[in-house]
Amino acid sequence: MDLSTRYMGLALKNPLVASASPLTGNLDSIRQLEDAGAAAIVMPSLFQEEIEAGEARYHALTTAYDDSWPEAATNFPVMTAEKLAPHHYLDLVRRASAATSIPVIASLNGITDDGWIDYAKWIEQAGAQGLELNVYFIPADIAMTGHEVEQRYLDILRAVRAAVSIPVSVKLSPYFSSIGHMAVALQEAGADGLVLFNRFYQPDFDIVNLKVVTDLRLSEPNEIRLPLLWLAVLAGRVKASLAAATGVTTPDEIVKYLLAGADVVMTTSSLLRQGVGHIAVLLAGLEAWLSAREFASVGQMRGIMSQRKIKDPQAFERTNYLKILQGYRVDYTNRRG
Ligand SMILES: Cc1cc2nc3c(=O)[nH]c(=O)nc-3n(C[C@H](O)[C@H](O)[C@H](O)COP(=O)(O)O)c2cc1C
Repeated sequence: MDLSTRYMGLALKNPLVASASPLTGNLDSIRQLEDAGAAAIVMPSLFQEEIEAGEARYHALTTAYDDSWPEAATNFPVMTAEKLAPHHYLDLVRRASAATSIPVIASLNGITDDGWIDYAKWIEQAGAQGLELNVYFIPADIAMTGHEVEQRYLDILRAVRAAVSIPVSVKLSPYFSSIGHMAVALQEAGADGLVLFNRFYQPDFDIVNLKVVTDLRLSEPNEIRLPLLWLAVLAGRVKASLAAATGVTTPDEIVKYLLAGADVVMTTSSLLRQGVGHIAVLLAGLEAWLSAREFASVGQMRGIMSQRKIKDPQAFERTNYLKILQGYRVDYTNRRG
């Protein structure tokens, strides 16, 4: 069975990628992920805040005695931001790339297009074969327009794109007015891959103690529906590679994402719940599904249920919504009151 695929120009042995999580930030578990069959890993993000905190520490160190003892600054070794901020991250990229034969994709997570972006080129120099850009931005300023939010993504992407020659993907928010238009704009700004979607961790309220609860819930399989819709709409219409990124629990979700047109399928929650070995279970399930339907390769089934390929493309649009609402049958015998 030929499970191979391509993602952002990288040749992968199968479509299953371990997305950014603590599991991909540790050499032992990276090796285990490779052994279990992961085709690539995305490292946990290096955050803009971590980089800036490192720079601020150095600035504080070198300027602490400016008023009383200006020569003190000359006692500090000349340091670049590369040497001081979280260089453990670059170390990990270096060691992970050396320790595995699968592509290591690093991840940068930030919300402005200034200084911290230099890290992109050091990450490339450290051996990463790709870079995922996560712009985890909540536009809580109600004066900000949709255009300004989109522009922020594009500016950051362009700055990173200009800094590196490795492929760059964007882990996208599902909350744009026009996902398709934004996908094309990102592609034109240099995105080689689009990751659908960034999972926004929404707070809850504790109504006993009147506190905001910020717990981290792992995903459920029913969360695939939003990315599934947009993958099916975008497949075959954009040149950028497409990654499905939420809700994989069993092989079924992988099959659905590939049918919609994903080039790769990423998973984190399933591995945190079931252990790294679950990769092998997912791959075996995918292979069994393909064999049972006499597909010889992932390539043969990819995208056959995308909007461009299915007989009824309106199944993804408003007409279908009307049918669904009008087709709902209320069970009046169950109503209380
Ligand atoms: C504990 C944990 C840590 C994560 N760390 C990162 C991170 O550093 N950068 C990032 O882009 N996504 C991060 N994610 C998000 C995952 O990469 C993934 O996109 C998300 O969990 C949805 O995939 P899933 O449904 O397979 O869990 C993290 C998720 C979890 C659960």
